[in-house]
Amino acid sequence: MKNTIIALAAAGLVTFGAAAQAGDAAAGKAAYSTCVGCHGANGEGGVGPKLAGKTDVAQKLRDYKAGKQVGPMTSMMAPMAAGLSDADIENIAAYTASL
Ligand code: HEC
Repeated sequence: MKNTIIALAAAGLVTFGAAAQAGDAAAGKAAYSTCVGCHGANGEGGVGPKLAGKTDVAQKLRDYKAGKQVGPMTSMMAPMAAGLSDADIENIAAYTASL
């Protein structure tokens, strides 16, 4: 019994560690709530481009955050990326890639 509990606890830690490294889609979904108005509830796009299934979301967010010009409407998007942490960016990218 004691061994089972220890084994389960260890498995839980391993799973959590792996998710944190690759970007946590569940945490990304929560962070994405501020993006819904422009990119759609399912990342389908709207005022902003479609994000669902894209693989370059993290890179684009880092570019906006760094002040780079990405597209013609960068000035609308840059302030949104400015407040994101590196972890937020990885988590959001994991979430939008899963849509
Ligand atoms: C006020 C509307 C608005 C909000 C809110 C917003 N965006 Fe955007 N987003 C845009 C627009 C407009 C563009 C296109 C900008 C350009 O021309 O570079 C864009 C572009 C992007 C791109 C680049 C897409 C591509 O393929 O070029 C990503 C990634 C992105 N947004 C992610 C997000 C995330 C994540 C959030 C929430 C933290 C967010 N956006 C919030 C309007 C918005």
